Amino acid sequence: MSESAQPVTPVTFPPAFLWGAATSAYQIEGAVREDGRTPSIWDTFSHTPGRTAGGDTGDIAVDHYHRYRDDVKLMAELGLNAYRFSISWSRVQPTGRGPAVQVGLDFYRRLVDELLAHGIKPAITLYHWDLPQELEDAGGWPERDTALRFAEYARIVGEALGDRVENWITLNEPWCSAFLGYGSGVHAPGRTEPLASLRAAHYLNLAHGLGAQALRSVMPARNQVAVSLNSSVVRPFSQSAADLAAVRKIDDLANGVFHGPMLHGAYPATLLEATSSITDWSYVQDGDLRTANQPLDALGLNYYTPALVSAADESRQGPRADGHGASSYSPWPGADDVAFHQTPGERTEMGWTIDPTGLHELIMRYTREAPGLPLYITENGAAYDDKVDSDGRVHDPERIAYLHGHLAAVRRAITDGADVRGYYLWSLMDNFEWAYGYGKRFGAVYVDYATLARTPKSSAHWYAKAARTGQLPP
Ligand code: NOJ
Repeated sequence: MSESAQPVTPVTFPPAFLWGAATSAYQIEGAVREDGRTPSIWDTFSHTPGRTAGGDTGDIAVDHYHRYRDDVKLMAELGLNAYRFSISWSRVQPTGRGPAVQVGLDFYRRLVDELLAHGIKPAITLYHWDLPQELEDAGGWPERDTALRFAEYARIVGEALGDRVENWITLNEPWCSAFLGYGSGVHAPGRTEPLASLRAAHYLNLAHGLGAQALRSVMPARNQVAVSLNSSVVRPFSQSAADLAAVRKIDDLANGVFHGPMLHGAYPATLLEATSSITDWSYVQDGDLRTANQPLDALGLNYYTPALVSAADESRQGPRADGHGASSYSPWPGADDVAFHQTPGERTEMGWTIDPTGLHELIMRYTREAPGLPLYITENGAAYDDKVDSDGRVHDPERIAYLHGHLAAVRRAITDGADVRGYYLWSLMDNFEWAYGYGKRFGAVYVDYATLARTPKSSAHWYAKAARTGQLPP
C-alpha cells in the first residue's frame, strides 16, 4: 500500500469538549454613544490621527450591539457550543466608578439569555483592553486605584450575570494592556514609558486577584474563574549562552511577569534583576502578590505564533521585529540587548509564522507549571486576505489548514496528558483588529463592511462540522 493510501486515523475530541469562538466588545459592538456608554481608551486612541490604519475606529465595528440576535443564530447554525465575549466596562459603569447603568447590563443579560436559549455556553471576559477614559485620565493601569476600580466593576458584573454564566475570565492578554499600551504605545492609551508599563503589569496582576475575589464573593461556587494569557513560546536562535539568556529575559517579560504572581505568588528573581535599571518595584506592597495568587478554576491560553530571539549584535536584527506592530519604542523594558528574528515557515496576513508545534509546547508547559489546572485555548486563529468569489462564497483553505494544524496539536497535547477542555477560535467574524483597523480579517464569518452582511467562510463550515462531530474533517 502506498503511503498516501494509508487509512487516516480520525482526530477525535472528548465528548464534553467546548467548540467555541471568541470576540471582544470594542472589536464588534459599535453603538459607542448609545445607552449611556462613555468613551474608553480605545475610542480616544482610534480617533487620534495616525494611531490606527486608515483612521479606522470601532464606532460602528460590525454593529453587533444591534445585531446580536442574528449573530447568535448564526453561531447556532455553525454548531458552536461555546462563545467567549467581553463586556464593555464603560457601557456598564461609564465613569469607571460608582453605580452600574442597568441598561448597559441589560444588553449583556439579553445576549446571555439568547446564547443559553440556543444551547451555547457563554464565557465572559471582564476586561479586553477598553478601559473607561476617565480612569486613564486619573492615571490608568500604572496606578493602584485602577485595580481597585476593576474589582468593583467585577463585582457589579458578577452580581448581574453570575446566576447564568459559569465561565469567567478576569483579564484578556494583560501583556498587551501593559506593554503595548504603555511601552511601545501601539495600543491605547499609546503611552511610551517603560516604568509605567511595568507598574501597569503589576496593577493588572493585582486587578486580576482582586477581581477574582470579587467575583467569588458574589457568584455561585460552581462558576469557574480564569484569566487569558497570551503566553509566548520563546525559542533561542542558537544554543549559545547569550541566546539562552535572551530567551530567559523575554520569557520573564512575556510570561513570568504575569504567571509568576498569578500562579506562584512571586515575580521571577531574574525579571526583577533584568529591570532593575528601570524600577526597584517599590510599588509592590505587602500582600499584593498573595492577592494576585488566587486559586483559579482554569487557565486560558491565547496562541498565534512563537517568538525567536537572540542576543543582539550588529549582524542581527534590532529588538523591534517582534510581531507586535511598528513603533520606535520597545514593549520589552530592560531587553534592548535582545533581538527578535523572523521564524522560518509560511506566514499569515499578520506576518506571523504558522507553527502548531508552539501550541503543543505551550499547553505542555502550563500542564507542568500549573498541574491540575484545566486549560482552555481561549484564542487561536489566523488573518487572511479573504475575498468574496463570483459564486458569492468565501473560500479560505489556508484558514482551514491553520485550524486543522492547531486543533490537531491540541489533541496531541490531550493525548500527552494535558487537560484541555475547549477551544475558542479567534474570531467568530471579521472585526476591528486594533491598530490594524479593518484591514486584517480573522473571522470564520466574512463581514462586508459596506453592508455589514455576514457570510460564513468555508472555514466556518469546516469548523461547524468539527464541532458537530467532535472530529476534525480532513
Ligand atoms: C489577541 C487579542 O485578544 C484579540 O483582541 C486580537 O484581535 C487577536 N489577538 C488577533 O490579533
